[in-house]
Amino acid sequence: MSIEQLAETAQAMVAPGKGIIAIDESTTTIAKRFAGVGIENTEENRRAYRELLLTTPNLGQYISGAILFDETLRQSTKDGTRFADLMQANGIIPGIKVDKGPQPLAGFPGEVVTEGLDGLRARLEEYYKLGARFAKWRAVINIGDDIPTGSAIEANSHALARYAALCQEQGLVPMVEPEVIMDGGHDIDTCYEVTEVVLRSLFGSLYEFNVMLEGTILKASMVIHGTESAEKASREEVAAATLRCLKSTVPATLPGIVFLSGGQSDEDATAHLDAMNKAGPHPWPLSFSYGRAMQQAALKLWAQDMQGNYGKAQETVFARARDNGLAALGQWQG
Ligand code: 13P
Repeated sequence: MSIEQLAETAQAMVAPGKGIIAIDESTTTIAKRFAGVGIENTEENRRAYRELLLTTPNLGQYISGAILFDETLRQSTKDGTRFADLMQANGIIPGIKVDKGPQPLAGFPGEVVTEGLDGLRARLEEYYKLGARFAKWRAVINIGDDIPTGSAIEANSHALARYAALCQEQGLVPMVEPEVIMDGGHDIDTCYEVTEVVLRSLFGSLYEFNVMLEGTILKASMVIHGTESAEKASREEVAAATLRCLKSTVPATLPGIVFLSGGQSDEDATAHLDAMNKAGPHPWPLSFSYGRAMQQAALKLWAQDMQGNYGKAQETVFARARDNGLAALGQWQG
């Protein structure tokens, strides 16, 4: 795979006014989302729900790609069209979550390291054949008393860099995601310091492992106060702190940065992205790769009446895509 092809895919993922929908919840994570709205976690319900999302009319107007879970990449619509083929026909690039999730880091209470490197080359080879053109790996960095440690940050950066290099070898664009978790009572300054160290470590590792930044996308968490913090930063403060942190750590050769929503409300996630882009131009396009902030309203509607609310749920997905697409241009009207 040439760097030109990887770069082309990466650029298409962050095309102006477009972003990514993350629907790559593992079977255990979707179980939690379904339980929250009273849906049984069966394979057919998971398939039907992903079909609802991916067949949203005109989704490709604002969505450049979707991240799927292994099971979903192998599934089809009710009439037998493979999801990956449907996406390609609608101009939506198929992506795949390839990590195997965070596990406790031995000797470091409260910290985790993401697993999934063993056998990854063969899995990526298969995912490419199944139609995937980018792959996501999520590292989890928790903030708490005396954590994160440098050891946990480095272990996660090392894994991200090895996965990213393997992706590029197999023709997939790595979407590297070091998520600094919002849970906790920390303030925005602490989040800034941690995010800065994490991104410096990540880009150091990507460099050491010969990862081509031109064919890489960063999925970043915003610099924001913890969910239990007494001091809530304003939207302007979140946007300004996130921009400053990214500008001081992320090389300009990167084709783009997309954000996760991480538990923010739908409106906050859109407003923060919009505020950052209104302050542009920046060295890279800033867009979205939201999971919950794209889906939660639609899931609620579908759960209330799977048949009766089908169209309404899809309209909600489209509206979220449009609002976030406008925010990616700094043109959201609030
Ligand atoms: P959220 O936007 O719900 O945080 O999910 C995005 C994601 O893919 C996390 O890995």
